[in-house]
Amino acid sequence: KTIYVLNGPNLNMLGTRQPEIYGHDTLDDIAARLVARGAELGVSVDVRQSNHEGHLIDWLHEAHFEGVHAVLLNAGAYTHTSIALHDAIKSITVPVIEVHLSDPETREPFRHLSYVGMAAVDCVKGLGANSYVVALEKAAAL
Ligand code: DQA
Repeated sequence: KTIYVLNGPNLNMLGTRQPEIYGHDTLDDIAARLVARGAELGVSVDVRQSNHEGHLIDWLHEAHFEGVHAVLLNAGAYTHTSIALHDAIKSITVPVIEVHLSDPETREPFRHLSYVGMAAVDCVKGLGANSYVVALEKAAAL
């Protein structure tokens, strides 16, 4: 079983980006934790990041064609803007779990709408880096 962990814009800046909101872990730190937890769960974890909406869409399609078990998607701000990502999730049969470090619904009103959430099977948010670990456990159990 392979699980893709797809990360959108500005998540390459984790560690220095607003640590009071997103914590001090870098994306590499989080990736290492996910690979280790994946090994315990018997799943292989492929962590990727792009600042480009189209790359995220291509990777969702790839997950489908490669027969990936599930996708964790932290689409960053595209969560709140991208009908194209919503459509991509709807275009594939692979289950997608929405992930956020923070809880967008307790933040600015412009973060309250999630196009990703309207298409995803589940959502884990507000737990910092642990959001990814909990989402990985849910994805492995699907
Ligand atoms: C985020 C929340 C989004 O609103 C924001 O644009 C991000 C990060 C999170 O993980 O908390 O880039 O997805």
